[in-house]
Amino acid sequence: MNRKPKAFLLHGFIGAGKTTFAKRLEEEEKALRFTHDEWMNELYGNDPPADLFPEYARRVFRVMEMTWTRGLSVGTNVILDFGFWSWAERQRTRALVAEHGGDAILYRLHCADEVAWDRVSERNRMLAGGLFIAPGTFQTLKARFEPLRDDEARIEVE
Ligand SMILES: Nc1ncnc2c1ncn2[C@@H]1O[C@H](COP(=O)(O)OP(=O)(O)OP(=O)(O)O)[C@@H](O)[C@H]1O
Ligand SMILES: [Mg+2]
Repeated sequence: MNRKPKAFLLHGFIGAGKTTFAKRLEEEEKALRFTHDEWMNELYGNDPPADLFPEYARRVFRVMEMTWTRGLSVGTNVILDFGFWSWAERQRTRALVAEHGGDAILYRLHCADEVAWDRVSERNRMLAGGLFIAPGTFQTLKARFEPLRDDEARIEVE
């Protein structure tokens, strides 16, 4: 039997616990994990200049996409630890997964803003592969977060 490889899409705001969950999932599913923040940190440091951040982030997304789509094509399970804040990005990724012969599985990670911010400010103090998140950034970015629509099949992570 030829099973389709899986692409696990992790949806959630900053500090919801996506990367922590992704590290567990990679063991359980034997999946290759793509954590955008880790690559950013490795290539550009843990607090890249704000004016360059979007361009750097795009480059990382591009190279990751070239890689995880090839992974799916050769039958490897992949974990996309990107947050998937926008519906358009989720739609595009689901289509890309299908195009490369995979099955998309969407996980939703959620926690209250106060809890998420407490976790992030704690993580800020010792960034092991993460990015620094300023308090203002947390609030500003919240406006860009588009919660899942009712018709988006998902698995809730407690
Ligand atoms: N279930 C949990 N209970 C308590 N603390 C947690 C839990 N999950 C994650 N954490 C802690 O909260 C912090 C943020 O978690 P994590 O880095 O996994 O979130 P994230 O969603 O990947 O954040 P980001 O969007 O910034 O990448 C980490 O320091 C982590 O150790
Ligand atoms: Mg993360």
